[in-house]
Amino acid sequence: MKTLSQTKSRGWRRSWSFVAATTGATIGLGNLWKFSYLAGENGGAAFIIVYLVCILLVAMPVMIAEIVLGSRGRSNPITTVQDVSLEAGVSTWWQGIGWFGCLAGLLVLSYYSVIAGWSFAYISKLFAGDFDATSAQLAGDQFNAFLAEPQSMLEWQGLFLLIIFLTIAVGIRRGIGLLARLLMPLLFVTLIALAVYSSQVGDFQAAVNFMFTPDFSSLTRQGVLAALGHAFFTLSIGVGAMIAYGAYVPDKRSITSMVSVVVVADTLVSLLAGLAIFPLVFSLNIAPAMGPGLMFVAVPYGFGNMIYGNYYGALFFLMVSLAAITSGVALMEPATSWLSERLRWWRPVAALMVVAIVWLLGLASVFSFNEWKGISIAGMSIFSALDFFTANILLPAGGLLTAIFVGWKMRREVLRDELYVEGRVLFSLWYWVLRYIAAPGVLVVFLSSFLKEWV
Ligand code: PFF
Repeated sequence: MKTLSQTKSRGWRRSWSFVAATTGATIGLGNLWKFSYLAGENGGAAFIIVYLVCILLVAMPVMIAEIVLGSRGRSNPITTVQDVSLEAGVSTWWQGIGWFGCLAGLLVLSYYSVIAGWSFAYISKLFAGDFDATSAQLAGDQFNAFLAEPQSMLEWQGLFLLIIFLTIAVGIRRGIGLLARLLMPLLFVTLIALAVYSSQVGDFQAAVNFMFTPDFSSLTRQGVLAALGHAFFTLSIGVGAMIAYGAYVPDKRSITSMVSVVVVADTLVSLLAGLAIFPLVFSLNIAPAMGPGLMFVAVPYGFGNMIYGNYYGALFFLMVSLAAITSGVALMEPATSWLSERLRWWRPVAALMVVAIVWLLGLASVFSFNEWKGISIAGMSIFSALDFFTANILLPAGGLLTAIFVGWKMRREVLRDELYVEGRVLFSLWYWVLRYIAAPGVLVVFLSSFLKEWV
């Protein structure tokens, strides 16, 4: 009998192409913007250590599981889980993983596109020299003035979505492969240069202490939940994106090795971004816990006081924006591929539909910084509530369902069939960690943050 993957085979032929596209999907605003502000809000090193543990023991095994699932089904996430559950002889209700992922992806993209829009706007602001010889106070005031005005935020967000639409409309492989390949090396070089610069002008020692000397008393249960959620967010899992990318995984290549390269690159970029941003934060007496604006105040200040800083700064935000594009494409891929494969919509029409929905949903985030500033949900603005709800709850929940499906419902021989290049020990290690650590780990963190009295 033909296996599912033999019947629907298509995909990248070289591991390097797959690694480049997947790295593009994972490295984005999560690394450059969110990691530092979350670490800043949650006490630094202790948060970073818990985050790294979550990456290794929970998120990475789930990422492999998603890719294995995609590689088995070779279709959009919904059809993939449906087909694979039929093959496994379990209820097709499991396709809910795909549905859940598509919806979560759209919600994430609704606020992700707003931040990407900020980054676009900052390319032109820096280039125009708006931050030349600025002070931290002025950079903060400019950021607040920018947030107070919904019109331009909407335009920049619209531009970001338009670019994603154009990229995805021409097809995932052609659209992002090249971009990711050019961008990633450039991003590394720029971040290293920026880290070196800010280590010289900023307070490098304080930054290193903050990032690497843990004080676990500063970490709350909510901080642990945020670390777990961010591990999912940064590796783009829990929304079906890696199931969609797994459909294109090249044959006869080690999935675990390709994933390891992606995870290492993703982690390095986050740490480098921290090393670039925190020395400036500490030398300026900006509160590390100032929240989502951290990168948009510290970095413009850093560049604004450097020779030719307006050009370098514009380049930095250009790269942040490009990284956001390759991630935004991944966020849209599950829903777009479902519309075009299952409903047989022409791909550009499917992409347009998804972009339109996201733009409408995004209005809530844009207005939460100005017109609707007064509205609060559980003590948070609409934007923060969306961010919290998706990253800390939906993504880990989606990952948990995937871990249960792949770890407990799919047959071991089928998994072995997809991961046949890996040695026996490595395969067993992944399988064991997925079943006994990743899945229960998410449950334990959920329970301990939501049932405060527990343990
Ligand atoms: N991993 C991306 C980042 O760190 O910016 C965000 C993301 C992209 C999450 C794609 C989920 C996803 F499907």
